Amino acid sequence: MESLPIVDVSAADRDAIAHEIDDACRASGFFVVVGHDVSASLTARVESRAREFFALSDDEKREVAMPHGGRAWRGWFPVGGELTAGVPDMKEGFYFGEELGPDDPRVRAGRPLHGSNLFPRRPPELRAAVLEYVDAVTRLGHALLELMARALGLDEQWFARHLTTDPVVLFRIFHYPPLPAGATPNQWSVGEHTDYGLITILGQDASGGLEVHGPDGWIAAPPVPNGFVVNLGDMLERMTGGRYRSTPHRVRNTTGADRISFPLFLDPAWDADVLPIPGMTDPTSDATGRWDGASVHEWSGTYGDYLLAKVGRVFPALLGEVLPDSTGP
Ligand code: OGA
Ligand code: NI
Repeated sequence: MESLPIVDVSAADRDAIAHEIDDACRASGFFVVVGHDVSASLTARVESRAREFFALSDDEKREVAMPHGGRAWRGWFPVGGELTAGVPDMKEGFYFGEELGPDDPRVRAGRPLHGSNLFPRRPPELRAAVLEYVDAVTRLGHALLELMARALGLDEQWFARHLTTDPVVLFRIFHYPPLPAGATPNQWSVGEHTDYGLITILGQDASGGLEVHGPDGWIAAPPVPNGFVVNLGDMLERMTGGRYRSTPHRVRNTTGADRISFPLFLDPAWDADVLPIPGMTDPTSDATGRWDGASVHEWSGTYGDYLLAKVGRVFPALLGEVLPDSTGP
């Protein structure tokens, strides 16, 4: 495999689409979705407004820095502010999520990572672009989960019923400055990692730089016009007994230009117990061969526990500052 499979979800034959998704999810857990109904102009708006925001001075960006987001875990972090496997990534970013007001029961209950977004003063258009995009891409995520359920021989509403009635939706925009010419081999734009939840849907500009660990080694995942890179998170690997893969990936921006990307993570409900799908095990899967030596199959708990431990590891200082009551990673 040298490139990611492209799945056109506008095709009429749902069984055929589900079959293509099944192949991709078993092989590498990565594919590119085209033929979806997220408008290219909406994606372009997010990209250009994000680029405008990141071009502001750090002083101005600091007005919406993550410590101001509190328990909702929203806002801007500077280059080097997020760690992967303990090493600072060469990126800056902005965390968004579902927009929930102070009266929402989940917010009143103090549920971490739930609450209202921070939006910058400039550019003012970023707010509407992000909120519209999160809605549209979340809908695409649910549509993909329906196809994935079909691919797994479940009824199409299986994920909606068991895990995503009240999903955790996280959205991030990233700016990757070019890696310096003298960058060491272990300096990454994003270090090797897997994603945590169900599915990630990634928009990216024309730069490229994302790499995926396929069965035969690292392969590039360059941009495809109007395509989103879709990949699976740890919870899908766990639920399917390893039949579907949560595959390591990483980013290295060596283009000399500024790269913008924006992943949306559609994840199980915070309080969901993520259990194996009954009857689904894959005897060929080898959890001990995972990139991090950790087994998603041996862990148990709610998705919220898992997510909090993960984000605590990538922002250790912030965890202590805004969620001092959490148990930590
Ligand atoms: C991530 C990720 C890749 C990219 O945020 O989990 O892998 O291209 N991002 O930004
Ligand atoms: Ni990722």
